[in-house]
Amino acid sequence: KVIYLKDYQPPAFAIEQTQLNFDIGPDSVIVSSRLRVVPCGSDTDLVLQGENLTTLAVSLDGVPVDAARMTETESTLTVRGIDSACWLETRVAIDPWGNSSLEGLYKSRTMFCTQCEAEGFRKITWFLDRPDVLSVYTTRVEADKSDCPILLSNGNCINRGDLSDGRHFAEWHDPHPKPSYLFALVAGDLECVTDEFVTVSGRRVVIEVYVEPKDLDKCAHAIASLKRAMRWDEEKYGREYDLDCYMIVAVDDFNMGAMENKGLNIFNTSCVLAHPATTTDAGFQRVEAVVAHEYFHNWSGNRVTCRDWFQLSLKEGFTVYRDACFSADMNSATVKRIEDVNLLRSAQFAEDAGPLAHAVRPASFIEISNFYTLTIYEKGAEIVRMLANMLGPETFRQATDRYFERFDGQAVTCDDFLSVMEEVSGRDLSRFARWYSQAGTPVIDVQDEYNAESQIYRMTLRQSCRPTPETPDKQPFHIPVRIGLLGEAGALALYCDQLATQELADNTDVVLELTDTEQTFVFTRVPERPVPSLCRNFSAPVHVRYPYDEPALVQLLARDDDLFNRWQASQEIAIRHIAAELDGNPLSMDRWTGALEQCLADAALDSAVMAELLHLPTMSYLIDRLEGHDVLALHAARKTVEEKLAIALKPRLHKALQAYHPPAQYQPEAGQIARRSLRNVAARLCVIAGWEQAADWIEAQVRAATNMTDQLAALRMSLLLPDADVSARCLDYFFQQWSHEALVVNQWLAVQAADERGDTLVRLQRLTETAGFQWGNPNKVRALVGTFAGQNYPQFHRNDGQGYQWLADVVGKLDQSNPQLASRLVTPLTRWKQYGARGTAMRNALQGLAGQDLSRDLYEVVHKAL
Ligand code: ARG
Ligand code: ZN
Repeated sequence: KVIYLKDYQPPAFAIEQTQLNFDIGPDSVIVSSRLRVVPCGSDTDLVLQGENLTTLAVSLDGVPVDAARMTETESTLTVRGIDSACWLETRVAIDPWGNSSLEGLYKSRTMFCTQCEAEGFRKITWFLDRPDVLSVYTTRVEADKSDCPILLSNGNCINRGDLSDGRHFAEWHDPHPKPSYLFALVAGDLECVTDEFVTVSGRRVVIEVYVEPKDLDKCAHAIASLKRAMRWDEEKYGREYDLDCYMIVAVDDFNMGAMENKGLNIFNTSCVLAHPATTTDAGFQRVEAVVAHEYFHNWSGNRVTCRDWFQLSLKEGFTVYRDACFSADMNSATVKRIEDVNLLRSAQFAEDAGPLAHAVRPASFIEISNFYTLTIYEKGAEIVRMLANMLGPETFRQATDRYFERFDGQAVTCDDFLSVMEEVSGRDLSRFARWYSQAGTPVIDVQDEYNAESQIYRMTLRQSCRPTPETPDKQPFHIPVRIGLLGEAGALALYCDQLATQELADNTDVVLELTDTEQTFVFTRVPERPVPSLCRNFSAPVHVRYPYDEPALVQLLARDDDLFNRWQASQEIAIRHIAAELDGNPLSMDRWTGALEQCLADAALDSAVMAELLHLPTMSYLIDRLEGHDVLALHAARKTVEEKLAIALKPRLHKALQAYHPPAQYQPEAGQIARRSLRNVAARLCVIAGWEQAADWIEAQVRAATNMTDQLAALRMSLLLPDADVSARCLDYFFQQWSHEALVVNQWLAVQAADERGDTLVRLQRLTETAGFQWGNPNKVRALVGTFAGQNYPQFHRNDGQGYQWLADVVGKLDQSNPQLASRLVTPLTRWKQYGARGTAMRNALQGLAGQDLSRDLYEVVHKAL
């Protein structure tokens, strides 16, 4: 069944209060609920949602409801004739032990926990399970005290005590009205690390992080990150925390990264636990980013929430933008931008070009869980970034202040957000709003013309966008294109009458606002033919096409005053070389490697940016850019170019490697992270270039590294060696050392899933049968299956089609237990159209799935992709 945005109706009833009691027994959980139901209009039929509930009792104002007045189906409970405010009570039994979907209340190892977003609350009790029904919750939990010494829910603990038979209870009250998707409950045998934060107005907030006892030493980074995020949100957005305690619980089995439940965040262990010995630098940064993301939701999501799920990006896009700015402030801003753009271009562009393309505010869906996508999150964040940049920091802050103030305690829409931006800035954003309604990645074709005599430079921008499922015909987007012009001696001053209103404080860098299909901008007093630096800092989520020649790109790489665009140029150069390799006409490496050598010698250049300059574009982006080539040929060409680059740079990289001295004490801070990333990419390229001591060096690193960043980097490099014995020894050693650390074992699984040598599929199949692997744990499944299908191009796309068939088999099986996970894992097969002849085998694998009895989640993805 398809749900449409245009069919939205406000709820017929309010639920002013929600009083819940969870009675957790040895083999059953009974949920009793008392709802203060108030009719909002003339409708008197109350239709509640529920799923997998065993209804035990229903009563109205204390009187059991007559069977004749009530209808229960698989998914609804209708009570008729409610024409005034009343108390509706239900009692249901639920089965958290048998709940492998990880949605609703479920058991993970020794604890009970919940995941309600988007529509999991209906697996707990009968309710109006939609985000625009806000209610004040009081929750009582009782359980056996030795099994579940910890009993948590949202808000503040208002009562707790012992009961007979070794049982105990706790009662929680959350004063802030909230939608059901923000409800949370945790019960189990956990330990807790405590800290405190004093807010700007002097309110003391207790911070508690709950983990299994073995993980107590891995909480410090999350707590430090949380405190930085709390301060940052006060300073940058004027947002203060609003409860007496802030709790984070770490759980092993979780479908996503984390969840922002009011006052009680629940986190995938991979996004909260961190320790230098077991966590990489990237892992530390991920924890910092996700902790901040969930914290920022307290305002962008919880205090101001979404009216309906079509508005999901209202909270996710905005919150991703907020966490990206936070991470940029805490680390290297350029590197953060490069990472985000890389992700967007590799994964979101592919999504936007494929059969599941959807607008940032979709017009329809079958299963909302399928819409927690890169488009909603990352492209949504790019939209907010464009707005923030167009308004400028002061106006944007005024606008967000007004947004939070006006809509506090309400469930609103993306249009509400835009209307505040419009009102405060006085700008016309009617065209800009199309970013929310039109899917697809716009393409900007840039043409220019220089007249040496008149010193006039004209730049013409023409936009277009391919048809996508819901929007075949596109209206022009409003696209801010930040540009600079590079001359022989550096950036040129820009004079353009069309930009008269624009602040020309720094007139070497301007924003051209493209609002029509085609516009020409005329620059005067341009003394020489410039090289344009386009879409600086990735000012809009678009493809830009300009007929650069290699010398121009090399000039940008070496000297652009926009650091991001130096990286951008290096990616373009690499694409040229890979394309030329594919055509059998390889380009000379000299100019490119010359520029990179200069960069390497430049002590002022951030090592982390330097490391990025040495990374070739991802396969996924190359497939998008170099359409029509066979994926294995593309992969081979990429490898050839990487090898040539490595050989050309080897002496310089080797020197960098020798010059590296490990810090006395590991710290996950920007300076150290930058040096480690350059060192490890240098080592990797030296290995690729055939460094004689590679095997010894790698094995020594795997055995002796004192931090996970260096150890894991070396383990990965071992797979590049021709001698499989060395990598086998490294993998064994690594597993022996870390078999007791689940998150490290996941990395070990992922490394093997990415192995491009030999018969990886046979080895992976065998791994799934070992103790380190469990199908019920999404992190393990993603590490093994997700890495194989998403990153191991030569093996997934093997000629016999077995890679595809294996994925389809795995997905079909997983769909029985965890539909959300299954429908995510199937993604690589949905891109079959991009793979020419191989696409047929991919499509056949999908077709096989379509013939089975599928969950709603997987059904939607498979059928849209076929
Ligand atoms: N709102 C969460 C976040 O991005 C993710 C929601 C999890 N959703 C799910 N269907 N498991 O912070
Ligand atoms: Zn979020």
